[in-house]
Amino acid sequence: MKPVIALTKGRLEKQFVQFFKELGYEAEPLMEKGRKLRIETNEFSFFFAKGVDVTTYVENGIADLGVVGGDILIEHEPDVFNLFPLPFGHCRMALATKKDYVWPDQKKRIASTFTHITKSYFKEKGESVDVIKLEGSVELAPILGLADAIVDIVETGTTLKENGLVIEDEFLSFSARLIANRSSLKIKREKLVPVIERFREGAKKR
Ligand code: PRP
Repeated sequence: MKPVIALTKGRLEKQFVQFFKELGYEAEPLMEKGRKLRIETNEFSFFFAKGVDVTTYVENGIADLGVVGGDILIEHEPDVFNLFPLPFGHCRMALATKKDYVWPDQKKRIASTFTHITKSYFKEKGESVDVIKLEGSVELAPILGLADAIVDIVETGTTLKENGLVIEDEFLSFSARLIANRSSLKIKREKLVPVIERFREGAKKR
């Protein structure tokens, strides 16, 4: 059985494919995948899912390995081996609001996909806030008046800038990570260790 790798769809996927190619693996089927959700190469079976679902598939042993943003691991704390950082997907967590925004006197409303991270951040500051959970495009919340500010990942800063938001504070930075299912590492050790080591070496070289 080939090792099964779960990949996060979207931005991380493209950066992963570039990295995977640089390691000398056969990457063409991944580059030509179109809308397919499962891809076979000579050595691996890949499938594509949203970041948080990648952790669910790895946790349940459907995938042996997974590539996921560090933000997802901090937010959801899945029961997986968090192996090491990969040399792409560098982001930071930021508190952002409208330019020249005047904060209200009452309890702040903070919109985020990362409710756990947001609550811990404000708890550490000793501040009580209302956290509003959104699934995406969180930048809309302060613009449309749903929240005073957002806590979200920032990579290039373009989304904030193009939507008239500014960073008030930055408090975490992370990259993509390689994760593994706990029992796969024992049962499929012979197959997985050379792959993990090749990834590790490649990550060091970048
Ligand atoms: C993420 C994040 C920001 C954006 C930041 O969203 O939520 O919106 O990327 O990137 P930037 O600093 O390079 O502009 P994503 O594109 O993953 O989609 P989403 O809004 O649906 O979460």
